[in-house]
Amino acid sequence: MAKPKVFVTRLIPEPGLDLLKQDCDVQVWPEELPPSREALLAGLAEAEGLLSLLTDKIDAVLLDAAPSLKVVSNYAVGYDNISVPDATARGILVCNKPGVLSETTADLAWSLLMASARRLAEGYDYVRTGKWKTWGPRTFLGWDVHHATLGIVGLGRIGFEMAKRARGFDMKVLYTNRTRKEEFEAMMGLEWAPLEQVLEESDFITLHTPLNDETRHLLGAAQFKQMKSTAVLINTARGQIVDQVALYEALKSGEIAYAALDVTDPEPIAPDDPLLSLPNCLIVPHIGSASHATRNRMAVMAAENLLAALKGERPENLVNPDVWKNRKSI
Ligand code: NAP
Ligand code: GLV
Ligand code: GLV
Repeated sequence: MAKPKVFVTRLIPEPGLDLLKQDCDVQVWPEELPPSREALLAGLAEAEGLLSLLTDKIDAVLLDAAPSLKVVSNYAVGYDNISVPDATARGILVCNKPGVLSETTADLAWSLLMASARRLAEGYDYVRTGKWKTWGPRTFLGWDVHHATLGIVGLGRIGFEMAKRARGFDMKVLYTNRTRKEEFEAMMGLEWAPLEQVLEESDFITLHTPLNDETRHLLGAAQFKQMKSTAVLINTARGQIVDQVALYEALKSGEIAYAALDVTDPEPIAPDDPLLSLPNCLIVPHIGSASHATRNRMAVMAAENLLAALKGERPENLVNPDVWKNRKSI
């Protein structure tokens, strides 16, 4: 029997590809940049499985051009790049990979928090460019992390890991979430508060919601006004959760002190984006989950989800379980 055809939209780590190659006829997009729309359409013409990245926009037109497609396995937790209702309407399973990257992503968010608090990027730039002449009593003063208040917006898997890290720094932790999580409040000493109060009272605000219709531009001009002038904003969730034009104004005018972003709108951020001209904004290129071990685990998990679906088994991480419930045969 011919092996099912699978299209993988980038060179994911080897362990995931090896697993797929055992059972599938695998076509991998080999370039550094994502496949163009045409290449994606061509790759999907006969594919039964698609292993996509967050840089691939999977919409109705694309799904209609993929008559054999049974499963889209996204190499990410977030699946805002996929039109899930359109996949569901066509009986196509959509999988993501939650959990395996929570700690690694929280580690990066924590790095951004510390780097902003103590102005590491500015300090390194100062050293590299030969400006360091002496020890300065007022040089690069930042903000203490220990005993400060951390505001977590979105207390899911990654938000929870941030709360764990905050304990070691004796921080007070406020959180807001779509649903209140009283069990975590007792366990971790967290305080629930509405978004407005989290913004008003926190020294560090870290975003961990998915991007959806409720969270798009969750933080804009009005929200920056509610924040302290010493507040530091960390975004490792999705760029569009923040109104970036309003963020620029808030950082420029001193309405808030600092921002550190792993995600921008769009990605990559344009080289002439005004945010890049600000000393109080640190931006890294969407590397939240980018550790060797985690990226390997993500590749294996994305491959396992895809293989399960092609074998007619229920994938572990199903975004649209209704498709599985209503399946006739797959
Ligand atoms: P998760 O476990 O699903 O947590 C998301 C949390 O956000 C949930 O607790 C959810 O509340 C809450 N939420 C959803 N909509 C909300 C709203 N409108 N207002 C307030 N809270 C809301 O997801 P996760 O694994 O922590 O990942 C979070 C996001 O991080 C992903 O969706 C992805 O976009 C991003 N991410 C980025 C990177 C990176 O490389 N930078 C890596 C991994 C993930 P409920 O409890 O009510 O559902
Ligand atoms: C990365 O951003 C992810 O959602 O996994
Ligand atoms: C600083 O290096 C100090 O010794 O206070």
